[in-house]
Amino acid sequence: MPALRFYPLAFAACLALGACKADPKPSKASADTQTSGPEIMTEAQPDPSAETKPSGAAMLAAGPDPHSFSRPDQVRVSHVGLNWVVDFNAEALTGEAILLLDRLDPSAPLLLDSRDLDIKQVYVTTLDAGAGEHGVPELAGRANAAGVSWAATKWAVGETTSSFGAPITIELPADANAVRLSYATRPGATGLQWLDKAQTAGKRAPFLYSQSQAIHARSWIPSQDSPGVRTTWDAIVEVDGRFTAVMAAEQLGELATAEPGDGKTRTFAFVMPQPVPAYLIALAVGDLERREVGSRTAVWADPAVVAAAAEEFADMETMLESAEALYGDYAWGRYDVLVLPPAFPFGGMENPRLTFVTPTLLAGDRSLVAVIAHELAHSWSGNLVTNQTWGDLWLNEGFTVYFERRIIEQIYGLERATIEAVIGKRELLEELHNPALLGAKPEFQKLAQDLRDIDPDESFSGVPYEKGALLLQALELAYGREVFDAFLREWFSTHAFGTVSTPQFIAFVGAELTAKHPVLDGRTAPDLNEWITGVGLPADAPEPEAEVLDDVEAEAKAFATGELPAKELETKGWTPWHWLHFLRSLPAEIGAAPLGQLDAAFSLTDSSNAEILGEWLVLAATHRYEPAYPRMESFLIEVGRRKFLTPIYRALAATEAGRAQAKTIYAKARPGYHAISRGTLDSLLKYEPLSP
Ligand code: BES
Ligand code: ZN
Repeated sequence: MPALRFYPLAFAACLALGACKADPKPSKASADTQTSGPEIMTEAQPDPSAETKPSGAAMLAAGPDPHSFSRPDQVRVSHVGLNWVVDFNAEALTGEAILLLDRLDPSAPLLLDSRDLDIKQVYVTTLDAGAGEHGVPELAGRANAAGVSWAATKWAVGETTSSFGAPITIELPADANAVRLSYATRPGATGLQWLDKAQTAGKRAPFLYSQSQAIHARSWIPSQDSPGVRTTWDAIVEVDGRFTAVMAAEQLGELATAEPGDGKTRTFAFVMPQPVPAYLIALAVGDLERREVGSRTAVWADPAVVAAAAEEFADMETMLESAEALYGDYAWGRYDVLVLPPAFPFGGMENPRLTFVTPTLLAGDRSLVAVIAHELAHSWSGNLVTNQTWGDLWLNEGFTVYFERRIIEQIYGLERATIEAVIGKRELLEELHNPALLGAKPEFQKLAQDLRDIDPDESFSGVPYEKGALLLQALELAYGREVFDAFLREWFSTHAFGTVSTPQFIAFVGAELTAKHPVLDGRTAPDLNEWITGVGLPADAPEPEAEVLDDVEAEAKAFATGELPAKELETKGWTPWHWLHFLRSLPAEIGAAPLGQLDAAFSLTDSSNAEILGEWLVLAATHRYEPAYPRMESFLIEVGRRKFLTPIYRALAATEAGRAQAKTIYAKARPGYHAISRGTLDSLLKYEPLSP
């Protein structure tokens, strides 16, 4: 077969570059097993640029994004076609990525990001890639299309020196405008998590999902993995016949397979007609069912939880309407939510058209839906208008937290939104002041951060979220809500499907607010420079106030002094945020006995609300409240959401007995955690894996 005939030549070239990592034998699902292989026009030659291949550092410095090896200023990917077979046994996606290119510098090679990919072969061609039925050049099925002649080209994978992965350098003949990589992912791909069926709700099928933000897309898609590069894309995904594949895209349904109705495999097709950065490409495969919520909204989930999910998120359609009324039309067609297994390391991820969420939101009383409002808000802040690099994450997350609370205010009222803002600010202050958190990390206290040589996963904190939202609230207070809302609408429409940087934000505030509108009487305009480049919070930062939380705090104090017995606490109508505030207001020296009284009165150890339980388990770990230990262990083993895991493990690790307990539990739980949670907890618990 042509690919086989070609492969050894390319491998020789790759050896000459000293950059071969993969076994030269093509694997089962690569191009060589396909019935009509590519037609080879040229052969691989030793790479003339080998000696001058720049080092990783030089390449990083050359591009506008310190976390990407790509040079979109030279060659820019405009569309991606993806074609995969999902292999649960090998824990691999095998298949192809076909990239359509804009050649801005005709002499430059294509540089892609990769991390731990098994690149088998790279071809080039010149495609007449007009838009297809869905408005984009559909490439996923073009690898073997009649009339397309693919030629082998020279390529090399550079050295992996950090979590940024390795560049793939691909030489481009003068007239080439498309590149095709046949490749496979590796089981350790950080952007994919392969779960066995015991880790799912229904326990009937294994599960796969992707999580690409910030720089994990490169571990499953060879791509220009920079938030500043947007592409449209389409995909064809073949899975075992028992499973369903979904992607953050328009779902085109199932393709008729070669052996229709044999039930052995199912093939799903997707298209994303709006250009998105690589970190927003997302895939999940498993035992999934869909349930409609509104005319533009639905939930996808394991059949065992789909009804509960539809009930929990019944307000999705109203949220969508509320968001549109605030900041303009929704740009993405449908808004669906996929409920993942509990190993998912985040509360939610704003994958376009298909937000991914943790099942820990399924509290039964719709009390945790702020996460849905948040991910929906990203459809504007983040997905439509994207931070140019990860050092400007606050332009995604701060805008989104502000927007989220405006949705919550519209639907559930000002008090609920304010309570969430108070809790958010308190968490931020704790993070800023605690030396074990950000107290000793001034760089991470800034809104605009210099993340050169720093993995964005490492800098993750509440700063871009809560400090960012507070800055926007400060602007709202200074100029008035009406003016500020118009400003935000203008921000979104001016930068739609583009990227933004902090200097652009400063200029936009100057042009659209400062130059056009007076500051309201009795208010002062926030000092943008202090907010953006300063550490901590400016002294005049907004101070959200919710009286009801003061009452909760007073109750906590009265309980702690013994003045008010647990049974007499006024907890009627408390949301999880009231409970959180109550538990956080207990004095540091409370001890285990009063926790026992609270538990007897409110069954906190058995709480089915993950926010309440998470906070309760932090207290139990801190005060060595033993009756909660079995629940703590099962929670830590079942749930992979980093926001819950970290404070519980940290509280355990603060005492000697707790440290031993933490290590024992972690050893059991770690195999089920996502790489992102493992990364955080390995360093927290000083865990040293026996093998990498
Ligand atoms: N986009 C984020 C998740 C993220 C951020 C992943 C940075 C990787 C790097 C998502 O929108 C998010 O912020 N999720 C929050 C929920 C929210 C309500 C604050 C979470 O998961 O806790
Ligand atoms: Zn977010």
